[in-house]
Amino acid sequence: GSGAAPVASGTASAPAPVPELFSWEFASDPYPAYAWLREHAPVHRTRLPSGVEAWLVTRYADARQALADQRLSKNPVHHAEPGKTGIPGERSAGLMTHLLNIDPPDHTRLRRLVSKAFTPRRVAAFAPRVQELTDRLIDSFAARGSADLIHEFAFPLPIYAICDMLGVPAEDQDDFRDWAGMMIRHGGGPRGGVARSVKKIRGYLAELIHRKREDLGQDDGADDLISGLIRASDHGDHLTEAEAVAMCFVLLFAGFETTINLIGNGTYALLRNPEQRARLQSSLAAGETGLLETGVEELLRYDGPVELATWRYATTGLTIGGQPIPAGDPVLVVLAAADRDPERFGAPDVLDLGRKDNQHLGYGHGIHYCLGAPLARLEGQTALATLLTRLPDLRLGVDPDELRWRGGLIMRGLRTLPVEFTPSAHR
Ligand code: HEM
Repeated sequence: GSGAAPVASGTASAPAPVPELFSWEFASDPYPAYAWLREHAPVHRTRLPSGVEAWLVTRYADARQALADQRLSKNPVHHAEPGKTGIPGERSAGLMTHLLNIDPPDHTRLRRLVSKAFTPRRVAAFAPRVQELTDRLIDSFAARGSADLIHEFAFPLPIYAICDMLGVPAEDQDDFRDWAGMMIRHGGGPRGGVARSVKKIRGYLAELIHRKREDLGQDDGADDLISGLIRASDHGDHLTEAEAVAMCFVLLFAGFETTINLIGNGTYALLRNPEQRARLQSSLAAGETGLLETGVEELLRYDGPVELATWRYATTGLTIGGQPIPAGDPVLVVLAAADRDPERFGAPDVLDLGRKDNQHLGYGHGIHYCLGAPLARLEGQTALATLLTRLPDLRLGVDPDELRWRGGLIMRGLRTLPVEFTPSAHR
């Protein structure tokens, strides 16, 4: 409700109108609208661009509680209108049995399995490879003095990284790059284009898993994530063929556009906050990593890649922040709004790379907490540190008003990020 006090003239102030959500202006800066919602309608039912009605949860305390509430299911069978939500194409491609669509006990079993293969040790061992990929991409435009950091840097880096990790052979990785590009180019547009790419990826992954399983039968197989997953499933928890394909799909899908946006939004935020960027550059020049680590966490809080957590559905009537929610309704936790809540964060709209007590929700919370967080941190830290070190006078190549944001649901990120810098020939 409107808690506005009467103004001094004695005329009651009109309640502020509900801000328009999902418009162009909203896509480029949703934070004023989120501030309004947090204050006036913290649990707010709205019609999404797809026509589906869902509840938006915008306060930090409510968001954190909702993310961990087991009465909110991830399984779309609990939606009153099943089939209208989720990743485009996943249903028609038979890819529904992945971590973001399931609840315990299946979630527990599959998460335990993949955790045996996707270990912090495997990620740490991958650091030199991420550095090599990062340098190779920067080499491709460093001598030019200008680049589009989305298409030439932020987009290819996570694709090649996750392909390497899964064990996709080098000669197939450019196919993957094309399919993945289709998935985000059409993101928010007609679902057909995305669905076709999703189907191609599904077919490729099914065949690759089959091949790796055969290799494992003959010798010890390769030391990649897919082989690790198969090995783990043969020694304990069971993994069906369909679950294996869906698992690889979600690793790709969940780790790709998110990481693009971490690098894109993060670089943009640094370019718009010169004193923070200078602070990070001098800390890197001094060989320190502390500010880089807290800084990437702060960039996730300040303008994170995931605007809304993925779908949840009320399995029973419940209340969130005092608001009754009927069974069957979808609930979307707005991570971007929660992470700017002044009840939780001091000066929430200020970027402070050294921020302490920064329990942001950018990677989610509870049993679906981001499985790939260690890899995302590695990629984000490597990408930003290498860019700022190798291209120290990096600057925006266009007026900020000309930048366009990808206004899809769930993700938040730039379509392009043109930059300029003094050309540099060598590493
Ligand atoms: C889950 C964010 C990178 C794999 C999630 C969730 C969030 C998130 C918010 C929870 C969704 C929910 O509860 O609805 C991010 C961000 C990333 C990132 C901000 C980059 C900066 C990655 C990477 C991978 C990955 C690189 C893997 C290669 C996953 C998987 C899940 C997940 C598999 C599902 C976990 C489960 O349901 O148990 N991520 N992610 N993510 N993420 Fe990430």
